[in-house]
Amino acid sequence: MSSITEFVPGIRYVGVNDRTKSLFEGLWPLPQGVSYNSYLIIDRKTALIDTADGAFTDRFLANIEQALEGRRLDYLVINHMEPDHSASIAAVRRSHPEVTLVSNAKALAMVEGYYGICDAVLEVKEGDTLSLGERSLLFRMTPMVHWPETMMSYCPEEKILFSGDAFGCFGALDGGIADRDMDTDRYWDEMVRYYSNIVGKYGSPVQKALEKWKGTELRAICPTHGPVWTEQLPRVAGLYDRMSRYECEPGVVIAYGSMYGNTEQMAEELARRFAARGIRRIAVHNLSVSHVSYVLRDIFKYRALVVGSPTYNGGIYPPVAALLEQIGERNLPPRPFACFGSFTWAGTAARRIAAWAEGVKWPVCAAPVEFRQGYDRAKAAGCDALVEAVLAQME
Ligand code: FEO
Repeated sequence: MSSITEFVPGIRYVGVNDRTKSLFEGLWPLPQGVSYNSYLIIDRKTALIDTADGAFTDRFLANIEQALEGRRLDYLVINHMEPDHSASIAAVRRSHPEVTLVSNAKALAMVEGYYGICDAVLEVKEGDTLSLGERSLLFRMTPMVHWPETMMSYCPEEKILFSGDAFGCFGALDGGIADRDMDTDRYWDEMVRYYSNIVGKYGSPVQKALEKWKGTELRAICPTHGPVWTEQLPRVAGLYDRMSRYECEPGVVIAYGSMYGNTEQMAEELARRFAARGIRRIAVHNLSVSHVSYVLRDIFKYRALVVGSPTYNGGIYPPVAALLEQIGERNLPPRPFACFGSFTWAGTAARRIAAWAEGVKWPVCAAPVEFRQGYDRAKAAGCDALVEAVLAQME
């Protein structure tokens, strides 16, 4: 095997890249593709960890055959049942009828529910181990990272954690598998976007999972998406810890909708005023253009949020309402929040955004700034008070 795919002797990467799918889960853009990672441990017994998306089953099976080099496949360990990792389970069983499926009770029930397989399975519980020969696997349950059946598997002899979705990111693997064999720059923002889009609702379960592995010696983390983390393991562990504690950098997201550019001009004015007050990290998103996926990423990165909307059909402009719904689903703790808007004959949008904020327990820190019809600087008079109130809460 090449040293690129056999990134640790006896542990081989057999995953696949997906550069075809445009929306992950039918929702989240994949401009740089995504990888479905799977790993094969070669010992006295052989063990495959997770499988791959059903669109790539043939390619995935070919990778397994090549990596097995004629050996039989003894175990398939299932850490997570979301079909981007489980959809090739039935094909693996057909190709290797001798294989025993290893997972917890919740996952095995899903294997039957999704794929009708319930024979030759081995149920494992928290703290159980499976000997492979020189190496073994230790299993810990990590529910809601990011489904209820998720678990992680640890090889103590190699000090390698097979972490499922945790520590994963969007972005195909362009050659290298481990971080030491590539330039990882492009993955960091994609890790925040992956986390905020897919796992962001489950900060508390992620913290509980991290707690379970605290003090465990780690040489590599092998997630189901993105690079294997070796050299940059402390950075990725720190980032995951901060994201799951909803810790943000000092900065402001200004997210707005605008039909004819009037609300947009107030967004620009607010951005200038934040910059003039020394804020260096400002992300401005026109919600008719920016996919909500990127806006959520920046909301997880930066501490304050200011939302603007014109009044539309007597309410909030639809792309703005869609963002608020996505934020509400993610259990984000309160943060400095303010809103603004415009209207032509009856203003309701800014008031409704403020009511939404009260509903998710993010009280607005300044009176909404709302103006009638065309924008001019005189109508931005309330912006200073809004900026100062947000800055006061950021301290
Ligand atoms: Fe990559 Fe939750 O599956």
